[in-house]
Amino acid sequence: MRIGVLTGGGDCPGLNAVIRAVVRKGVATYGHEFVGFQDGWKGPLEGLSRPLGIAEVRGILPRGGTILGSSRTNPFKIENGVERIKENLAAQGVDALIAIGGEDTLGVATKLHELGVNVVGVPKTIDNDLGATDYTFGFDTAVNIAMEAIDRLHTTAESHHRTLVVEVMGRHAGWIALHAGLAGGANVILLPERQFDVEQVAGYVEKRFQHQYAPIVVVAEGAQPLEGQMVLHNQELDSFGHVRLGGIGQWLAEQLEAKTGKEARTVVLGHIQRGGTPSAFDRVLATRLGLQAIDAVHEGDWGKMVAMQSTDIVRVPLAEATRELKTVPLERYAEAEVFFGS
Ligand code: F6P
Repeated sequence: MRIGVLTGGGDCPGLNAVIRAVVRKGVATYGHEFVGFQDGWKGPLEGLSRPLGIAEVRGILPRGGTILGSSRTNPFKIENGVERIKENLAAQGVDALIAIGGEDTLGVATKLHELGVNVVGVPKTIDNDLGATDYTFGFDTAVNIAMEAIDRLHTTAESHHRTLVVEVMGRHAGWIALHAGLAGGANVILLPERQFDVEQVAGYVEKRFQHQYAPIVVVAEGAQPLEGQMVLHNQELDSFGHVRLGGIGQWLAEQLEAKTGKEARTVVLGHIQRGGTPSAFDRVLATRLGLQAIDAVHEGDWGKMVAMQSTDIVRVPLAEATRELKTVPLERYAEAEVFFGS
């Protein structure tokens, strides 16, 4: 078989580890050939490809980002997008596609499968919000980066008796905020899953100062205050209809400073969370997902997404995985609440 591989959506550490595993097993065990499509769905849409063999995947296991490039191109928003993809796959003699992506990229894969394209999906996102898989690679690395940042910020918060607000990624799901906040000993954690009362947050912050200990507030970029709307960076939507977030951390710091009279500063971790080398956990998970993905392709098991369930790598229907986002259950949030303000 000649198999196309693409990476779509926001990059994350571990993408290259998947590509490497797919190609190494695909060539060595099954004798398949590969072609790398560039920049997500833009690659097959515009016929942008590059060679992808053993030589091209040497040394990429620890590298962050993706050697194939990525984009948020949505072929269903482009005239004749699906037909163009089918034509380009045929023109390049490609029998099947492995799409590595999150909710948007795999949403496209789900629809293309229904339209007759041979596709297998691999879940990735630092947000850990894809259904049907316990973890996505990229998440562990992002949490560790955010945790280390929180550890460092504790010392400055103490020295200067300041509140430090740490804004982390997480548009609809607060997994990064929850895990990094728990691991880093945050004083308060705010998630998109539950609107927060800024008065209550100010109360937690005051209490922490009373204990002679400066507070760290971890806020997911998609968290919203009770009394207002989501703070938007701008109103532009991408081709999947997402707004560009950012700003809740700054807004919150201003509110906390005004309400407590104590200086409050914000650190926005942004793309630092998605950069650099993957953790060992993410390298292993990405590698195992890649191995299962090439097995699925070899067996012609189309329309599946490989997933981690417990410690096993299994296959689930793409449609099931992309049906709804996996958000933080409120009882999980309640575990963290025990530490708020104390
Ligand atoms: O989906 C991954 C993610 O990092 C989200 O946490 C974040 O909201 C979004 O991508 C940011 O996207 P971009 O890098 O395109 O601004």
